[in-house]
Amino acid sequence: MNLIRRPRRSRQSAAIRDMVQETRLSVTDFILPVFIMEGQNVRSEVASMPGIHRFSLDLLLDEIQECVDLGIKTFDLFPNLPESKKDKYATESYNPDGLYLQAIRAIKDRFPDVMVMTDVAMDPYSSDGHDGIVENGKILNDPTLEVLGKMALAQAQAGANIVGPSDMMDGRVGYLRQVLDEGGFHEVAIMSYSAKYASAFYGPFRDALDSAPKFGDKKTYQMNPANSREALIEAQLDFAEGADFLMVKPALAYLDIIKLLNDNFHLPIAAYNVSGEYAMIKAAAQNGWLDGERAMMEALMSIKRAGASVILTYFAKEAARLL
Ligand code: PBG
Repeated sequence: MNLIRRPRRSRQSAAIRDMVQETRLSVTDFILPVFIMEGQNVRSEVASMPGIHRFSLDLLLDEIQECVDLGIKTFDLFPNLPESKKDKYATESYNPDGLYLQAIRAIKDRFPDVMVMTDVAMDPYSSDGHDGIVENGKILNDPTLEVLGKMALAQAQAGANIVGPSDMMDGRVGYLRQVLDEGGFHEVAIMSYSAKYASAFYGPFRDALDSAPKFGDKKTYQMNPANSREALIEAQLDFAEGADFLMVKPALAYLDIIKLLNDNFHLPIAAYNVSGEYAMIKAAAQNGWLDGERAMMEALMSIKRAGASVILTYFAKEAARLL
């Protein structure tokens, strides 16, 4: 056959395939989310996330050392708290002697070059299991800001480098930027959860933190999975309010949203490859139904190809070993 264009020419050997490869993953793309808990010498596996553990502070530092040796430089912290520390107003979130702020200080103290990202939302500290203050069954938008401001400021004082407002309510980025700047923390960045969907894929994360809502769901604040144009409005607001990164969450079922934001905004786009996305691949691999390593690398590659330059993923450590 007389074909002028034969795309297979560029696939005929490993050398040429490598040369024309369009997207490359690097360990510097990754942020590893880590779960912390009280106690000493505790390393407790999350049942629905094989290979992922909640660490007490002492063991957390060893874990971070291992990750740093693999080239991972940024960690996003989430606390698992006993019910006794939770209340309606998430007051534990800005307790200077509390687990979370202690963890930030301990990490920055031992690893000054590591970047600590923090979560700015009420749910791990809320006795209602919601991301905001609850009154008469409603999740309040504006009154919750005061709690988030105290939380973010306390985290910045403890040494946080990036704060991640994750409640998907209105006016978060602008308010936090102002609070941080007034506190003298101009250098603390904001990674906004711009398009975070009300997703079934967060199930294992809520197991990890025992943070499932005590009533109802999160549909009055997280986005409807059916919508993409609305993601542009959310991203526009976050951009205008001063976000340094725009995040899409989950990642794999929302690759079109990652591309949409990357095409429309000149900010780094982050994607959160969430707990359920991790659990699916792990479960199938454990059953021998697919090759777990290859599925992991393909999933991560697809997130980057779609336009995310930062990937929050529980696979970070495993992928770093392969890269
Ligand atoms: C809520 C929050 C969630 C995750 C991180 N922060 C989900 C939720 O309960 O709404 C999920 C992360 C994951 O599933 O890996 N502030």
